[in-house]
Amino acid sequence: MARHLITSAIPYINGIKHLGNLVGSQLPADLFARYQRARGNEVLFLCATDEHGTPAELAAAKAGKPVAEYCAEMHETQSKIADGFRLSFDHFGRSSSPQNHRLTQHFAGVLAERGLIREVSETQMYSPTDGRYLPDRYIEGTCPNCGFEDARGDQCDNCTKQLDPVDLINPHSVISGATDLEMRETKHLYLCQSLIKDEIEAWIDSKTDWPVLTTSIARKWLHDGDGLQDRGITRDLDWGIPVKKGEEEWPGMEGKVFYVWFDAPIEYIACAQEWVDAGKGDDWERWWRTDKGADDVTYTQFMGKDNVPFHTLTFPATILGSGEPWKRVDYIKSFNYLNYDGGQFSTSRGRGVFMDQALEILPADYWRWWLLSHAPESSDAEFTWENFQSSVNKDLADVLGNFASRVTKFCRSKFGEVVPEGGAMGALEAKLIADLAEKIREYEAQMEAHEVRKAAGALRAAWVLGNEYLQEAAPWSTLKADPEAAAMQIRLALNMIRLYAVISAPFIPDASAQLLAALKTQDDGWPGDLGAALSVLPVGHAFEVPEVTFRKITDAEREEWQERFAGER
Ligand code: 2FM
Ligand code: ZN
Repeated sequence: MARHLITSAIPYINGIKHLGNLVGSQLPADLFARYQRARGNEVLFLCATDEHGTPAELAAAKAGKPVAEYCAEMHETQSKIADGFRLSFDHFGRSSSPQNHRLTQHFAGVLAERGLIREVSETQMYSPTDGRYLPDRYIEGTCPNCGFEDARGDQCDNCTKQLDPVDLINPHSVISGATDLEMRETKHLYLCQSLIKDEIEAWIDSKTDWPVLTTSIARKWLHDGDGLQDRGITRDLDWGIPVKKGEEEWPGMEGKVFYVWFDAPIEYIACAQEWVDAGKGDDWERWWRTDKGADDVTYTQFMGKDNVPFHTLTFPATILGSGEPWKRVDYIKSFNYLNYDGGQFSTSRGRGVFMDQALEILPADYWRWWLLSHAPESSDAEFTWENFQSSVNKDLADVLGNFASRVTKFCRSKFGEVVPEGGAMGALEAKLIADLAEKIREYEAQMEAHEVRKAAGALRAAWVLGNEYLQEAAPWSTLKADPEAAAMQIRLALNMIRLYAVISAPFIPDASAQLLAALKTQDDGWPGDLGAALSVLPVGHAFEVPEVTFRKITDAEREEWQERFAGER
């Protein structure tokens, strides 16, 4: 039995995510986890909320809540929505956990001991009124480039110019509005990535099977400009993991916290500890420590392309630099962006469908199928309501749903709600079984290769074979002249419903469970020998006609939703 450690990029805590976020990491990670479990492999699938940084502080301030309270509530909200989408995490952790505090401080301590952290003096805006240093996003003022009055310290949203807070005209604090800002000297820690650049580069070069999207982004950062730069890993914020060297204080770092991107990936490890501490597992080290059995683990990470630099460079620098035997990622699957109906998803303008809204209008499987079968792998992809309607209506309702419904209803009316006996299979059935076997092997190969769209294509092709067979065998016309043949065809078709339920489960788990329940079977074993898999339901086995598995989306609904999610214009 192979062992798979699977992580999805951990979503920021500051709000409910949209469908583009979902398809960029959590959903394909879930697909892969479900598939590996279905193949009988041992899986540890982890995700968490990413709770630190300025966005968390600002979102809490906007909600008028203490940040710890805001994060706890939003974690619960995100966790419920993840359940709604059937994301099958073994644990959904929190980067603000005590486990992550300890581990992040531990890494900083060992990196410092090994000479991979240096202290840098910088000047930074200080607000005496607020009694604190202000990070870039906490300062606003007039853009020196275009005159826009609400430009942020790091960027002008009007003309997109990258800014430094000192460039702003009339800068003021976002917290208090104070204008008596002054530049003060302060110390920060930098991770010396440049010192381990060669090791990281050699490691990336050895990953010849990784998606080009992943390696090209990593190489760009390794080679562009002056090459891999050291990175600041501390910030002047109240909320976050206090800067410490292991358990010891760090002189000069009082009141500072680690940068969110330093502690977030460490949460992948801390999350496994949380999983054990929550009583769901008993050994996290056999997943994460190569000296404790993690050598034979295959570790796969899923993420959007904007996350690639941190996972190919910064996090590897952290664990490599520690000199400790941590498991390193074996495969990084990255995604392009999903756009929404001719533009981008926009949280501030309420444009596009967010995860909670999606579940209010249709069950999870409808979204899972569309998103996965249109995953933005080779390029950016676009959600349109027309495409969504046509995919759902064709693939799910007409092809898969209709097959299950026609076969079970026909059987009920002609043979009763039991698997009929019938005669021996013929050439048509032999061909169907051979074709199906080929599609399933292709499906497996695409899944192993993390090719999400192609896997969906192979699965859809397997469903289509069933419909084509039914058209050709036409048991409704065979019935009169050759009832034995019709019964055999239906016996096979009933078994095909079970087969479809099993192989489709990673994509559409609820429909799969519904079909297995209607067929009154718990046998969801992955098909090895297809002949055997297609005779699991024996003659005389009772079943029920399932409720509608997938309904069609009407034109009126499509128009209504298009309007509703268009955002303010
Ligand atoms: O882009 C994001 O949503 C980040 N919160 C992802 C962090 S992934 C990690 F490193 F843990
Ligand atoms: Zn501007």
